[in-house]
Amino acid sequence: MNSAIIYTMHIGPLKLESNLFLSPLAGYTNLPFRLVVREIGGVGLCTTDLVNARSLLENNPKAFKLIETRPADSPLAVQLFGGVPGEMRDAAQMLEARGVAAIDINMGCPVRKVCNVGGGSAMMTELDKTAALVRGMVSAVKIPVTAKMRLGWDDQNITAPDLARALEDAGIAAIFVHGRTREQGFAGTVNLAGIRKVVEAVKTIPVIGNGDVITPQAAKKMLDDTGCAGVSIGRGAFYDPWIFQRTLLYLNACSSRREEAQNKFGMRSAECGIQSEPPHVGCYENEIPEPAFSERVRVMCRHLDLMIEVFGEEHGCRMFRKVAPWHAKRFGPCHEFNKRVVRISSRAEFHAVLENYIRWRQQFLDDNGELQPRFRPAPMVASFMRESEPVSIRREQIPVPKGPVEVW
Ligand SMILES: Cc1cc2nc3c(=O)[nH]c(=O)nc-3n(C[C@H](O)[C@H](O)[C@H](O)COP(=O)(O)O)c2cc1C
Repeated sequence: MNSAIIYTMHIGPLKLESNLFLSPLAGYTNLPFRLVVREIGGVGLCTTDLVNARSLLENNPKAFKLIETRPADSPLAVQLFGGVPGEMRDAAQMLEARGVAAIDINMGCPVRKVCNVGGGSAMMTELDKTAALVRGMVSAVKIPVTAKMRLGWDDQNITAPDLARALEDAGIAAIFVHGRTREQGFAGTVNLAGIRKVVEAVKTIPVIGNGDVITPQAAKKMLDDTGCAGVSIGRGAFYDPWIFQRTLLYLNACSSRREEAQNKFGMRSAECGIQSEPPHVGCYENEIPEPAFSERVRVMCRHLDLMIEVFGEEHGCRMFRKVAPWHAKRFGPCHEFNKRVVRISSRAEFHAVLENYIRWRQQFLDDNGELQPRFRPAPMVASFMRESEPVSIRREQIPVPKGPVEVW
């Protein structure tokens, strides 16, 4: 079955090959990583890290590095932040002229430097002002303008449904919503019911759910429970760059199974006690296998090569120090790799670390060269799919802000 046929979607006039999105993660979702996930496949639209609109207008080289792209990195949305309507409008026009496919406005960033200039989650508190800013941008460009928000400032101020409705009236083409408040930062469980309220608040535009999707099963649960049109994945793509492709396979497998059940049992399926909707957890786990170690190593090496191409050997390697451990997360025992890879400054050093690690890892393998069962990493389970209270997995995660207004 061709997954692209079922899961295509539109954002305004922009047709996407899938309803799965790469969320912006400042410092991570740069050009090399976007190319890595696009080469694997399954992602419909990628977004750059957030970029200051004023810095773009001032031709700041760092801002231009953030929007660096290539034909293979398409379609691409650039995420802007800023609270000055004229600057946001002019930056949007500049990006349209450069061939960007969509503009995303950051309304969810809890970082002080973004909120202080009236951008990020500060935008969620002033609906009329924000709608006016959006109207100015939408009328200045033909490409779709989207907004990324949280559920609200805090539990007492869940403004996302009202804001989404106001932005739809102002011409926004889609809403991305991270199912947490600004006060929550990255703590606690993603609120699927909160995302659902945003879906119900808008008339026709797509709402894309976001937060803690780290498995195909979690993506399906978010789609099912919230009615959202698509799912945006951030940290999950670093833990598993195959997640987009695997999610499409999983969604297809689930829909084939539903069709089979319906064809076989027709209207009687419920009477027969046949479950036409497969359960979320554990379903098809064997049919959507995780990539083999050799494939993980191949993709990690490709990622480093692209980092070196885009950022130069020394800088690229230094930047790679913080992402290499995410590639290693599913290698099985990996401390020997992690402790050495954080010191690399050249491609040769990286390959020496890797070769040493591959030799060291052999002690954990069986006769077929597979990890012995007791050394295999436990299956990943999204926060909103755990049966008990979420256990602390901070140690295993991409670092997030310690408080809501410190750093990303
Ligand atoms: C390190 C880091 C950087 C982030 N940078 C951005 C950003 O530039 N723009 C933005 O809208 N959200 C940013 N976010 C939020 C993510 O896009 C996303 O909403 C959040 O991480 C929840 O999704 P996830 O659980 O799939 O990662 C960032 C999150 C993290 C952890």
